[in-house]
Amino acid sequence: MTKIKKIAVFTSGGDAPGMNAAVRAVVRTAAYHKIQTFAVYRGYDGMIKGDIKRINTGDVGNIIQRGGTILKTARSESFRTKEGRAIAYENLKKFEIDACVAIGGDGTFTGAEVFHKEYNIPFIGIPGTIDNDIYGTDYTIGFDTAINTAIEAIDKIRDTADSHSRLFFVEVMGRHSGYIALHTGISSGAGCIFLPETNTSIEDLITILHKAHKRKKLFNMVVVAEGNQNGGAMEIAKKLKEKYTEYESKVTIIGHMQRGGAPSCSDRMLASRLGYHAILELIAGKVNVALGIVSDELCITPFKDAITQTKQPKASLIEMANILSM
Ligand code: F6P
Repeated sequence: MTKIKKIAVFTSGGDAPGMNAAVRAVVRTAAYHKIQTFAVYRGYDGMIKGDIKRINTGDVGNIIQRGGTILKTARSESFRTKEGRAIAYENLKKFEIDACVAIGGDGTFTGAEVFHKEYNIPFIGIPGTIDNDIYGTDYTIGFDTAINTAIEAIDKIRDTADSHSRLFFVEVMGRHSGYIALHTGISSGAGCIFLPETNTSIEDLITILHKAHKRKKLFNMVVVAEGNQNGGAMEIAKKLKEKYTEYESKVTIIGHMQRGGAPSCSDRMLASRLGYHAILELIAGKVNVALGIVSDELCITPFKDAITQTKQPKASLIEMANILSM
């Protein structure tokens, strides 16, 4: 018999398609093991405000297919303060919460790690972010849906780019991580991809464009991660124009569209597996760890590693992208 009787579940940071499927799996697996679940609304902010309510198996019906998060989310500034965390702890005590399941990215896990150290509340983390930048899992919840949304948009832009023989810059999300840009760049046949992790220059781009011109390629697609060192797509287009007036280009920023929409089948599967295992691992006594799936197997990573180790797009994939874009 588990000692855990009551848990809290919350989503935090940028929302990601599939977070609802994870919440559903947590609530239903907990109920199966006679554990009561409480929903904390708007992440750590809600924990501080005491926005905590009992959530039952029926409450998570008809949400597996929905994007966003029914628990709402926030990037909490107050939880970064000792005072904020002290209030959050009092609120969890009021509801006699024995453990928490936190669904979010590295900011969420960092908060959990600090909180656990101060108040010894057991936490299990589920990686939910479209950025796919969490160490200890091949993919994060939301990434697959986001890249498919981006690809759909880029394919449409490609049609008009081809028709008008134009150069297009398409900006995708990823302030610090190039996963979305790399995967959508490769899959959309982009001529060049700007990632935060590489130092592709405007001169490199010009070389690529000149080569393409020689091959009589009249249109080109360039995928840019928003956190690229040259700036976003607007900035790169401007810098190119300053150096080479001959290059007329158009810019599309896909933006937050990438964060919404119904989760893909892969994201629903990943979220269901991780939500289910979060409860099993809590019952087994695991605390302060993030769950992930690596090579189709459950992977358990201490928060301290999940937040300090960086996961970067594979160099071999970047090399492949360069070769295929020729
Ligand atoms: O959730 C991840 C992410 O979408 C990043 O790709 C992006 O840089 C950031 O969040 C945007 O955050 P916000 O919506 O808070 O501006």
